[in-house]
Amino acid sequence: MCEAPRRANPVAACGCAAESRPNLSIHRIPCMLSGKQGQQAHFDRDTVHAVRDLGTACTLKRHQSTYQYFENIHYLCFKYHYMKHPLLILLLALSAIFASCSNSSEQTENSTLATIMSRKSVRSYTEQKLTDAQIETLLKAAMAAPSGINIQPWRFIVVTDQSIKEALQADGPQRMYSQCAALFVICGETDFINRNGDKVPNGNWTADCAAATENLLLAAESIGLGAVWTACYPYENRMNKAIEVLGIPEGVTPYCLVPVGYPAGDEQPKDKWKPENIHYNRW
Ligand SMILES: Cc1cc2nc3c(=O)[nH]c(=O)nc-3n(C[C@H](O)[C@H](O)[C@H](O)COP(=O)(O)O)c2cc1C
Repeated sequence: MCEAPRRANPVAACGCAAESRPNLSIHRIPCMLSGKQGQQAHFDRDTVHAVRDLGTACTLKRHQSTYQYFENIHYLCFKYHYMKHPLLILLLALSAIFASCSNSSEQTENSTLATIMSRKSVRSYTEQKLTDAQIETLLKAAMAAPSGINIQPWRFIVVTDQSIKEALQADGPQRMYSQCAALFVICGETDFINRNGDKVPNGNWTADCAAATENLLLAAESIGLGAVWTACYPYENRMNKAIEVLGIPEGVTPYCLVPVGYPAGDEQPKDKWKPENIHYNRW
């Protein structure tokens, strides 16, 4: 099965001198399927979309490998005028379909990737409640996160009581708190006891809580629920409100609040793939 390259200059990948040899022959096409990670690609998305319009049945979505496959196709099609050769066009279209199918099956068969790519912030919910089993699933996912020295400094408060949700929301911008089925308050213990028995600050507590929060968001997405990360730490007013309303003890800091419920709208994941934000080996 053809595997589309993650990041490749197809011509460079097969050792061809791209600019100086416009008459690439058909046997070089497989080169574009074997690009190595780390090599530069120089394509823009408009041309990628143009290639989609070749009439292939491929769907060009937000997935990196599909984009780059088409970028490679474009590289051969447009830059070297393969458009003039109907047989090659057909071959390219067929190979594009084949690659797209293998990409999309990779993405749909890999449920972890599918969940990651489909997660989005959901800020409106139906009135349907969560079951205890669903709540436990989300908590288990959160607690499965990595943490510095495996300290697991996270603590959770699950708020389903309507009056408490409303108290947390009062005068605040987060209208989702009162509407959601369950509000997860992720807190962190900011100190820990080291090997010498001394109580010392845990410099990782925010990163640990962030990892737990993302796990919770992904778990919610994976079971058909909607959720959104809302900030608490380091905003004094939000932290004080949570501490006061929820009776959070000394030494524990509310990190963020995650309202969860069944989505009422049709929020879609955003395309955040930006190759310009990546550097390989050096900046
Ligand atoms: C640290 C952090 C704080 C956030 N705080 C809020 C918030 O206070 N209110 C809110 O509505 N969304 C908040 N968000 C959600 C972001 O607005 C959202 O993740 C971003 O717009 C990207 O959209 P997406 O989650 O659908 O990919 C926060 C996200 C993060 C990671």
